[in-house]
Amino acid sequence: VSIQAPKGTRDFYPETQRIQNFIFEAWKRVCLRYGYEEYEGPIFEDLELFTGKSGDEIVTQLYNFQDKGGRDLALRPEMTPTLARLVNQKGQNLRKPFRWFSIPRLYRYERSQKGRLREFFQLNMDIIGTDSIHAEADLISAIIALLKEFKLEAQDFQVGISSRKLLAAVLSDIGISDSATVLPLLDKRAKMPPEKFEDSLQELGLNSEQINSINEFMKCTHLNQMKTLALSDNAKKALEELEILFEILTESNLEQYIAIDTSVIRGLAYYTGIVFEVFDKNKSMRAIAGGGRYDNLCEKLGGDPVTGVGFGVGDVVLKDLLSEKNLLPLSDLNGPDFYLIDFGENFRTLFAIAAELREQDICCTHDLVPKKIQKQLENAHKSGAKHVLFCGSDRSGSDQYEVKNLQTGVQKTIQRQNIKAYLNEQPE
Ligand code: HAM
Repeated sequence: VSIQAPKGTRDFYPETQRIQNFIFEAWKRVCLRYGYEEYEGPIFEDLELFTGKSGDEIVTQLYNFQDKGGRDLALRPEMTPTLARLVNQKGQNLRKPFRWFSIPRLYRYERSQKGRLREFFQLNMDIIGTDSIHAEADLISAIIALLKEFKLEAQDFQVGISSRKLLAAVLSDIGISDSATVLPLLDKRAKMPPEKFEDSLQELGLNSEQINSINEFMKCTHLNQMKTLALSDNAKKALEELEILFEILTESNLEQYIAIDTSVIRGLAYYTGIVFEVFDKNKSMRAIAGGGRYDNLCEKLGGDPVTGVGFGVGDVVLKDLLSEKNLLPLSDLNGPDFYLIDFGENFRTLFAIAAELREQDICCTHDLVPKKIQKQLENAHKSGAKHVLFCGSDRSGSDQYEVKNLQTGVQKTIQRQNIKAYLNEQPE
């Protein structure tokens, strides 16, 4: 009869929240190091913001509802439409280009499976308002830095990069002008037997020559293989963009983290240019991160034609990978500076002493009901406190405290006014 947490959600007890904070703090550090500014939006949005723009899959996964005023709303399944809305709202008043980041809590009615939940967090980094491939370079460099911040290395993950623009141009060159019908199949290609893939393309009306060309393209793992397939001006331009991107990343010593990966199509409908996904090196897990360029989203949502590029990295797969590689902090209990121990003379004086310490920006805590000294010491250890401060002991007069460093075991008497100095001189 007891009520459980809804399927696909997680509870964050303090020990799990500590790990969550460790991840968020690292994310934030890297974003700020790269000069991105933080923004936020509402957790629920007008349903219309997501229907028709994000792509069919995400729409079937929406948590939508009517509020008491009969408005159709949805919990946000991703941040990009909200970002586009923010951009549209301010229009010309936003100085572009700009780099923003956000760490939203997101909701998708997914089939619960490893790496995919119904409620999760996702760091978003986006650059709005420039066509330049330098934006992609900035973002891909950032995502590599982000994963390296957790001590993940080139043997642990890879950024697979492709170009929807190049793919669309190659398809158009072989007579397929509407790539929208073929993209979902290409997206699933790696997961189906080759014959089934070819049969499905045939069912869409493609001839064997077209199917061969598609297979040729999909087999490319290097830029120079793509060269022989990019024949039209459009295809050449799209390829040139990819080449510049790889050059910049190589010049930044990041070539060991990146690879051409034509299987990266991206499920979301709004991508128009470079697309990329990050996978663990064996591709044994779901994607760690994904993103790309979206030229028309702002316009489709009623704003000016403003281009954007960005990515999202979720907390779920990342945490699985870090746990597998033993890179999560195990006992990062960051307890208070002091645990106040009462010698049983006047328990209530603890509150006054604690208040005095906190005024000086010193973190401290104590028991809430009188306990034996032994029990209080146990609680001090459990709290992760770095020191104990004995209150009301024989030796601690009104202007002196007896203190003990719980790590070193060193005990001494200090003047009441020197307590901050005592903390400052402790070894880390
Ligand atoms: P996405 O590929 O849908 O892209 O999600 C990006 C990442 O979020 C995934 O690689 C995964 O780590 C995480 N993720 C997605 N769904 C779930 C889930 N159900 N449970 C746990 N983690 C999940 C986007 O959302 C784009 N809006 C990203 C973007 C930003 N594109 C441009 N800017």
